[in-house]
Amino acid sequence: MSLARPIAYLAGVGASAPEGRLTNADLERTLDTNDEWIVERTGIRERRIARRDEPLLEYTLRAARQAMERAGVTAEQIDGIIFATVTPDRRLPSAACDLQSALGAKKAWAFDLVAACPGWVYAISAAEGMMAAGLGDTILVVGAEKLSTITDFSDRSTAILFGDGAGAGILRRGAEGSDRGVLATYLGADGDLAELLYIPAGGSAEPLTPEIVQEKRHLMRMAGREVFKAAVLAMSRSTDEALRRAGLPPGSIDLLIPHQANLRIIEATAKHAGIPMEKVMVNLDQYGNTSSASIPLAVAQAEAEGRLKPGMIVMLVAFGAGFTWGSVVIRW
Ligand code: ACO
Repeated sequence: MSLARPIAYLAGVGASAPEGRLTNADLERTLDTNDEWIVERTGIRERRIARRDEPLLEYTLRAARQAMERAGVTAEQIDGIIFATVTPDRRLPSAACDLQSALGAKKAWAFDLVAACPGWVYAISAAEGMMAAGLGDTILVVGAEKLSTITDFSDRSTAILFGDGAGAGILRRGAEGSDRGVLATYLGADGDLAELLYIPAGGSAEPLTPEIVQEKRHLMRMAGREVFKAAVLAMSRSTDEALRRAGLPPGSIDLLIPHQANLRIIEATAKHAGIPMEKVMVNLDQYGNTSSASIPLAVAQAEAEGRLKPGMIVMLVAFGAGFTWGSVVIRW
């Protein structure tokens, strides 16, 4: 069954990241790597890294408050919170409940969503569906990570990629007859490929032990080349599929805001969709890959730079561990 869209629109977006910076030059000091290789192969120049004692909640709160301010929404008006993350401050209760308490969003329901890099795309889709089901008119959707806690900084193939950050959006029910908002969503997953990007141990199947920590099996492992190929394919297909579902012809995207994993993946996705790079939002040079924070960080920056204009067709597309992927088409 399909719904009469748009149901929901992004009324405000906010972003924040820890102040600590880790540059390619910093990495050169501890790893057998260099700035030229990292920039050429990934496009990344620096990342934000939280202090050990700087909780995810701290910078997420700043992002959420900014989104609320831009949307003109108070904490009392929030009906629900969906918090996409793979790095919550603690396992119980959810990061969403901690955020609900910190904001004083007393009437909001709250839960976490684990979908890795497409987390925010999944969260928008979930929030829109919950709105359609009558579960609220104003939903806070967060994508935030402290990936530095699951990154192996002695592994040059992953340490160069990941960073910390937070993004948030207020999704609101649109006025009757408004053509602004989410036009189409598309989500997918393939759990058969889980072990190409995963954390081997430290969960319930193999709870944390000193040996696991010693062997660094509580940190991310990735088969980069395989992930790269799968990411290009899935992001290209996701872009096509969301456009098809929105009933829009190829070439109608005004701004592509892709997951910020690797500049070459972004360029390949844009090329497939026939979109020139001037119409693509890129900020991974400043943040690296921040998983579910990556798209909202990029959306907030695009807005701050005046690149988002009313009526524009905006495509959000992401790919990540799972594998998972997804896309959202929005008329801004
Ligand atoms: N510095 C210098 N050399 C390096 C580094 C480094 N940091 N890392 C790897 N190399 C070397 C390798 O050892 C290899 O050397 P060899 O030829 O002597 O064996 C050579 O560079 C090429 O290695 P590749 O792995 O083939 O390099 P590639 O061009 O594929 O780039 C990278 C590696 C950047 C990891 C790339 O594969 C990639 O971006 N993959 C996708 C990663 C990704 O997007 N992950 C996240 C998506 S999901 C999520 O966000 C959670």
